[in-house]
Amino acid sequence: MDKVRCLISAGPTREHLDPVRYISNPSSGRMGTALAAAAARAGWRVSLVLGPSEVPIPGGLEEAVRVTSSDEMYSALSDRFDSADILIMSAAVSDMKPERFIPRKVKKNQIDFNLRFVPTIDILKTLSKRKRPGQFLVGFAAETDDVLNYAKVKLAEKNLDAVAANRVCSGRGGFGDTSNEMTLIFKDGSAEFLEYASKDSIAEKMIGIFSSRFFGKGKTL
Ligand code: CTP
Repeated sequence: MDKVRCLISAGPTREHLDPVRYISNPSSGRMGTALAAAAARAGWRVSLVLGPSEVPIPGGLEEAVRVTSSDEMYSALSDRFDSADILIMSAAVSDMKPERFIPRKVKKNQIDFNLRFVPTIDILKTLSKRKRPGQFLVGFAAETDDVLNYAKVKLAEKNLDAVAANRVCSGRGGFGDTSNEMTLIFKDGSAEFLEYASKDSIAEKMIGIFSSRFFGKGKTL
């Protein structure tokens, strides 16, 4: 029986203004790399697309692709999406990028302090329009407040099968922390709460839950 083919994104993206300056976010890449390691341990064939992150790439993966910007992340994921059984989009993609990139270092007395930004591509929403039957999409909802409600909106708007609702900046889990807690909300309205634990342990539980919910039949786990 075929192994589950799994595509995982992790880490932040960097949107450069010039070669030495960028806009980004505090994502460490730990949750996504922990998920990739857990999926590989479960016997899945894992492709990891990783933004700038200091976290070591786990062993046992089929491939790991390093990217910097949201456009590069989109391109790497798009190339691999059609052959994946499941996409787990744990990357913290920057929502905006500078309107233009200046390919040389701008001197400080020439900086435009009224920089203009444009939206980045919503990778998950764009890929979800290509979703085929039997393919599963998992998103994350990083929120500071009203976590579950915002997560449910993302589940619907991005045509997801599950969303991991994650409170960030609360001092308990999320960006930068080595532990996390979250609620997994599924398309059918059911939910599972994963209590505060190391990201490795949360990742192990998530992969176990996805294995039985999505691939309970017909896939080698
Ligand atoms: N995401 C994405 N492309 C983006 C932004 C987000 O694919 N440009 C994905 C994230 O990887 C995550 C999900 O969409 O799986 C939700 O990301 P989040 O940052 O929580 O929400 P946004 O869609 O960016 O919306 P908002 O910032 O308004 O909460």
